[in-house]
Amino acid sequence: MKIYVTRELPGAEFERLKEEYSVVVNPSSLPPTEDELLAAVRDKDGVITLLTDRMTKKIIDGSTLKVIANCAAGYDNIDITHCTERGIMVTNTPDVLTNATAELTFALILSVARMIVQADRYTRGGNFNAWSPTLFVGMELHDSVLGIIGAGKIGTEVGIRAKAFGMHILYTDLLANPRLNALGARRVGLNELLGLADIITLHIPLTSSTHRLIGAAEFNLMKPTCFVINVARGKVIDEHALVVALKTTKIAGAGLDVYENEPIVSDELKELDNVVMLPHIGSATLTARIRMANLAIKNLCTGLEGGKPPNLVNPIGNTAVSIGNNAVGSENTAVGSESTAVGSESTAVGDESKGVR
Ligand code: GLV
Repeated sequence: MKIYVTRELPGAEFERLKEEYSVVVNPSSLPPTEDELLAAVRDKDGVITLLTDRMTKKIIDGSTLKVIANCAAGYDNIDITHCTERGIMVTNTPDVLTNATAELTFALILSVARMIVQADRYTRGGNFNAWSPTLFVGMELHDSVLGIIGAGKIGTEVGIRAKAFGMHILYTDLLANPRLNALGARRVGLNELLGLADIITLHIPLTSSTHRLIGAAEFNLMKPTCFVINVARGKVIDEHALVVALKTTKIAGAGLDVYENEPIVSDELKELDNVVMLPHIGSATLTARIRMANLAIKNLCTGLEGGKPPNLVNPIGNTAVSIGNNAVGSENTAVGSESTAVGSESTAVGDESKGVR
């Protein structure tokens, strides 16, 4: 079996994969270009991709691939519909990054609410001359309202952490979430959540229905004191509308791990002081990254050896896909109406319209 891996991965399983199969690894620390990817997968049976690798129709058609194992929870970088038509299995790595991503979400929540990054710059800049009752006075999380858009696995873990901080939780999702409900969380429509939350955090996959879910109209519904956190996918927010909302103080600030055109971060965002920006590191703990690599390898090898990979996201042959498998943040999709919401683990899996990222 011939395998291509688009970047060096951590963990012992990766070393074993290289010993047991004929594996070519992209030697660069950057993603392969389209031409490099095309040339690399031309004669391969399987590939391990990252979210930066766009598996387009052109690349899929120019390959002999049987399995594409995405080493990410989201798989909007892969043309799932075309893979299904071609009988190519696509897999992802959900669950193993849930804690890491929920933790980073909280790091951003705390950073924006307490101006951690600005305060660090201030201190480092030699400006700390005296304690002051008005210096970097932020928002107390206790008794504030957290609005979770997409109550899948990551959204749920964020809610559990929010409860420990004494926050009130609202969430929007296609289905009720018993774990969040048990914490006293309330499921509401998207617009109600936008109007009531002090902090809004997005945990939805990028799909045709969540693309630019949050735009000018949605920012207009938010409180001027609201902070928006996005660790899902940049394209679920209209980034220009976000900049306008931040500049005109329609909202108080934002904590971003993802960008509409990443890795390009727009200059207009960079100029703003009320935004904390990270380079898409939601799952970046050693534990999560090793587990992601191991899971991608397991999915790949199972598929190549004729079995059903544990995290198959498209229906191939007579295989059924497992529930709760897709996407970033929430393992779901579908933006509902005002009275419904966005995503849920029990929807959307294996629906090819989801694989947009
Ligand atoms: C990270 O964004 C992932 O989808 O794994």
